[in-house]
Amino acid sequence: MFDLRLQAGTSRFLPGRTTSTWGANGAYLGPTLHASRGDKVRINVTNTLGEATTIHWHGMHLPARADGGPHQPIAPGATWSPTWTIDQPAATFWYHPHPHGETEDHVYRGLSGLFLIDDPQGRALPLPKRYGVDDLPVIIQDKRFRADGSLGGGKLGTDILINGTYDPHVDVGTQLVRFRLLNASSARSYDVGFTDDRAFDLIATDGGLLDVPYHLNRVPLSPGERAEIVAAFEPGERVALRSFQPDLGENFLPARFDGGDDTFDLLQVRAAGRLRGSAAVPARLAHHDVLNEAGAATTRRIRITSSSSIDGKSMDMGRIDQVVTVGTTEIWEVRNQTGSLHNFHVHDVQFKVLAWRGGPPPPYLAGWKDTVALPPGQSVRFLTRFSDYADPSTPYMFHCHLLRHEDEGSWASSSSCSRPRPPGSRRRTSTRADPPWSPSSCGGARLDALWGGTQESETISGSLQRPDGAEAA
Ligand code: C2O
Ligand code: CU
Repeated sequence: MFDLRLQAGTSRFLPGRTTSTWGANGAYLGPTLHASRGDKVRINVTNTLGEATTIHWHGMHLPARADGGPHQPIAPGATWSPTWTIDQPAATFWYHPHPHGETEDHVYRGLSGLFLIDDPQGRALPLPKRYGVDDLPVIIQDKRFRADGSLGGGKLGTDILINGTYDPHVDVGTQLVRFRLLNASSARSYDVGFTDDRAFDLIATDGGLLDVPYHLNRVPLSPGERAEIVAAFEPGERVALRSFQPDLGENFLPARFDGGDDTFDLLQVRAAGRLRGSAAVPARLAHHDVLNEAGAATTRRIRITSSSSIDGKSMDMGRIDQVVTVGTTEIWEVRNQTGSLHNFHVHDVQFKVLAWRGGPPPPYLAGWKDTVALPPGQSVRFLTRFSDYADPSTPYMFHCHLLRHEDEGSWASSSSCSRPRPPGSRRRTSTRADPPWSPSSCGGARLDALWGGTQESETISGSLQRPDGAEAA
C-alpha cells in the first residue's frame, strides 16, 4: 500500500530563488515506489491541488481502470485508489499525470516519480542494487526559469534538473554504479554518455533487463524512455554524465529548434578515494519469454500525421480507435509522416522492436520497450502481446510522449476485448465526469539531499513516510 498526496509547494532549485512547484508527498517530484513481482499493490492518490489531474503508471501492465489515463480523473480533494497485482519482470517504471490537455503542465510543475519493480531473477543477479548507494535514480528534466525563479513555459528548457536538483553531483563509494535514467522532460531528447566518452554497460530498457548487457558509450532517450546503465569508476576521479547532441533525424533548422545542437552536463560523479569492490556485470542478464512473430494475429498500421493527430484524428475521449483481442499477439507498424521527431508510447504492454529506421533494432532497442523515438519519415515495426485485462468500455492510450503533442491531441485509444470485434467498430467510452551549452558541470549541489525527497520506498505493508526535506505549502 502506498499513499501519494499530490500537493503544491515551494522548491529552491537556484541559489537565492524560490520556485512554486507541485510534488507528491513533497514539493517537487514524488517518492520512488518499490514493489516486487507478485505484490498486490494499492495506491491511495489524494489530490490536494486546486484542479483535477490523474496519475498514470507508465510501463505497467494493469487493468484499464487502474491505468490512470485521462479516463480516471481525480477531482480536487478526492482520493483515487487503484489496485492491481504486479505481474511483469523487474524494471524501472514511472508515474506521472495524464489529464486531458494538461499533461505537459502538470508534469512540468513537478508531478512525476519512479516506480521500481524487482523480481527473484533480478534479485539473484550480482548487479548494483543498493538504492541511493550504488543504484541511483537519474530523472532528467529541462526547465526554463524566469528571473524571479518561477518556472517559465516553452517547449525546451535551457537548465537541467536531475531528481529536482540543479547542477548536481553525487558521491559514489563502489567500483560499479548503476544509473536508472529516465527522460521525464516535456519534449527534449538526450543522448547520454560520460564527459570522457568512457563505455558503460546498458543492462535494461523500458520494460526490464536485457538478455545480455551491451557495451556502449551513448544511449539516446526521447521523452518517457528509460535506460539502466552500469559504469565503472576509478578511486578519486571525477567525471560527469553528459547529454551529447541527440540525433533527431531532422533537417538542420528544425533540429536546431528541437535541441539537436544542445549538449548538457547532467550529473557529476565524485568517486571516493577508496572504492568498495563490485561484482562484474554478468554476461547473461534475463531470460524472457519470446514472442513469436509468425503467430501474430494481425498487423496494424498507424501513422503519426502531425503534432496533434494520429491517423489524421485528434484525441477524442469518446472514440476508440483500435480494438484488440486479449490473448493475441500483434504486429504494429507506426510511421512518422511529419518533418519532425515524435515518439510512440503504448499503455499496458511492452513490445519487442522488429525493425526501426529501416533496419534491425540497435542495442538500446533490443529489449522490452514501451516508448520508441520516431525520426521524421521513419517507422518502427514491433511485436506485442495483449494479455489478461479485457475491458470493452475503458480504453488504454497510445500516443506521442512529447507532452505538448499529447496535449494537442496526438493520441488515440485502444480497448481490449475478450472476443474479436469487427475492425473499425466504435464504442462510447465511459467518460466519467468527473544557451544550449551548459557550463561544464562543477556539480555544486549534492544530489543526496534530494533523496530525502524521493527515496521513500517500501511496499505493501507499510505506507510511505513523508519525505524529510520537502517544504509543502
Ligand atoms: Cu507516460 Cu500515456 O504516458
Ligand atoms: Cu509528437
